[in-house]
Amino acid sequence: MRDNVILTGFMGTGKTSLGKLLATRLGRPFVDIDKKIEDEAQMSIPKIFELYGEEHFRELERLAVKELSSRRGMVIATGGGTIKDADNLRLLKSSGVLICLTTEPEEIFNRTERRGERPVLDGGGNERLESIKRLLAERKKFYDQADYQVDTTEWSPLQIIDDICRYLRQFRS
Ligand code: S3P
Repeated sequence: MRDNVILTGFMGTGKTSLGKLLATRLGRPFVDIDKKIEDEAQMSIPKIFELYGEEHFRELERLAVKELSSRRGMVIATGGGTIKDADNLRLLKSSGVLICLTTEPEEIFNRTERRGERPVLDGGGNERLESIKRLLAERKKFYDQADYQVDTTEWSPLQIIDDICRYLRQFRS
């Protein structure tokens, strides 16, 4: 049964903050995959990348997706790269409605400016905006598989949550 609501999308599109608001609006528990991984590893994501490498992080991500997609009635925020993995995408889509948040690259650049938080972008050197555009282009085919897309560049959180809730109404039984 596709009962969860899953927010996906690139870094800086607002998955965590909007996920919390959406969960409150729907009266559901909220789980953020990155936060779950950090809590269980007792380590920040940049530290996991630094000590064990990206492949280890992706393995922890796959385990978290397996566990969460077997639960029901939740709002889940993925990491920006979670649905690059075909099994993750399949499991998440079969467990709920997959909503992709999109944002213009320049705005992603501004929102993710602080270094040390997103190892995937920090690796991009001075050409960070170019890295963002390249990764967005590489990942478009995955994000495009979401059931619905919402652009968060201009809208207020309230407008975005209203729009998502309007879309979700068709799934209510
Ligand atoms: C990643 C995005 C991050 C986090 C990790 C890798 C990615 O999540 O999962 O740093 O590959 O796009 P956010 O999108 O929540 O920043």
